[in-house]
Amino acid sequence: SLSGHEVHTDVQPDRDNEKLGELLQREVLRRRNFAIISHPDAGKTTLTEKLLLFGGAIHEAGEVKARRAAKHATSDWMELEKQRGISITSTALTFEYSGVQINLLDTPGHQDFSEDTYRTLAAADNAVMLVDGAKGIEPQTRKLFEVARMRKLPIFTVVNKMDRPALNGFEIIEQLEKEFNLPAYPVNWPIGSGDRFCGVYHRPTNKVILYERKAGNGRKAGSKREYNLDDSELKELIEEDLLAQLHEDVELLQVLGDEIDFDAVLRGEITPMFFASAMSNFGVELFLQQFVEYAARPGDAPTRSGSAVVPTNTQFTGLIFKLQANMDPKHRDKVAFVRVVSGKFEKGMKVKVARTGRVVTLAAPQRMFANERSTVLEAYAGDVIGLTNPGAFAIGDTLCTGSVVHFPPIPTFSPELFAYLRCAPSARKAFNKGVEGLLGEGAVQVLYSTDEYKQDPILAAVGQLQFEVVQYRMKDEYGVETTLEPMPFCIARWVVGGWPAVERAGRLFNAVAVKDVYGRPVLLFKNEFSLSQVIGEAGEKLGVLSPYALP
Ligand code: G4P
Repeated sequence: SLSGHEVHTDVQPDRDNEKLGELLQREVLRRRNFAIISHPDAGKTTLTEKLLLFGGAIHEAGEVKARRAAKHATSDWMELEKQRGISITSTALTFEYSGVQINLLDTPGHQDFSEDTYRTLAAADNAVMLVDGAKGIEPQTRKLFEVARMRKLPIFTVVNKMDRPALNGFEIIEQLEKEFNLPAYPVNWPIGSGDRFCGVYHRPTNKVILYERKAGNGRKAGSKREYNLDDSELKELIEEDLLAQLHEDVELLQVLGDEIDFDAVLRGEITPMFFASAMSNFGVELFLQQFVEYAARPGDAPTRSGSAVVPTNTQFTGLIFKLQANMDPKHRDKVAFVRVVSGKFEKGMKVKVARTGRVVTLAAPQRMFANERSTVLEAYAGDVIGLTNPGAFAIGDTLCTGSVVHFPPIPTFSPELFAYLRCAPSARKAFNKGVEGLLGEGAVQVLYSTDEYKQDPILAAVGQLQFEVVQYRMKDEYGVETTLEPMPFCIARWVVGGWPAVERAGRLFNAVAVKDVYGRPVLLFKNEFSLSQVIGEAGEKLGVLSPYALP
């Protein structure tokens, strides 16, 4: 019998492994992880809140904001967030929906996003592109979309605020095609918008689902919500012209594409599209149901040696994608966020840091819920946990048990804002220490002038917020008051050929040469025009220019 084998000690390890294998199979299959890409104000906070409601992670709309507000009262690190009314700390929110564990990697949602926003996308398996129905695609969505595309993430489009006057659905489809070369497959289709928004037609089930306004808005409460497209009752519920329009639209959609190509969705080549009103919680669950079905499960991860790590591999591996300091002012600690790539994470386990060879015990793992923390006992591929092991980790580190693997480095992003950071001469020592610390954490990139008399570091960032965080933390943690002197550049290009190439090119009138922390030449430009001029005049001598620091 089976139990007879179980007491046979020789077989035990195999059997344990087999059991672990089955467990991993189960857990990986029931996981989905995603990040929301959107422009500020499109409704990310509102959508997040409604998603968490469905998952039962919160019980009342407004709780996410309320928790934020409560945290503000107690945390001085959050003081900066409070002053700016923004969320700097991007964390992972976890909730269950119909047996699936969903991890929402929260990206900072402000105009002044930072490199962390990008890095979070490096840990995500899916992207949800949230679009304001009235505005269509906006600048920040564009930038984030590029990163999602670079990573070939499946992209789900949610057109929000349908209860307000919105663009025609076909116009938004066209924008996606034109700007992103991304064909859309509308999973549901809106019936009217603004005051005349009455619901959506859900293509997988061929049902019309009506939007119910709150009492006082003219619609009977308690009425049936779902109708077949040809149900005669619809004539009484939807105004004639809107119903005619719907029938016309449905036919046109049919012509554009009858069935969704799931493989193309997983490759990021076609986007399932949804229409919703997050504020009134309409269309959110319809989206969630379909997302759970279509979204990519945690997948194989390529390593630097060219092999791939499978998520159900019994060996634990993880990728550090973000470091965050001082989230809890009482402890003055640093949290490293790791994305589990394979195996089972257990509290107290020993892992090797591939870069240093150091073995670290992961003693205090945490999962973040908004700004609160709870201890994690176990985690699987696709999960994100916060580790509090100060100093042991750097961004891009691979953690592993068993044989050492290295995941490829997380790409850095081309800085667009530059400023000298200065301090009083007497504070120099602490200043240097602070710059080094923040640099090591990846809070900001640093460049230096080639002029030996200008030794103040040049901060190079993708968002203004990074400057503020650096200044705040220099003062708060290192006791140094700093000043910023903005520089009038917005484009950086690393000269791949190094200083010989820069010398060959001779004097450049429209660019300034500086060096990165490794002494490599970087050219700064005021605008695209200067860049193309320099390329036109000296491009051949300069050779290859890269928007990113090469590893
Ligand atoms: P963000 O995180 O992407 O920046 O957006 P957020 O959810 O904070 O939403 C921005 C504004 O848009 C909020 O209004 C919010 O209520 C509103 N909003 C979100 N979804 C919808 C929707 O489906 N329909 C409509 N009509 N509005 C929506 P606010 O006035 O700035 O804040 P609040 O006072 O409502 O919180």
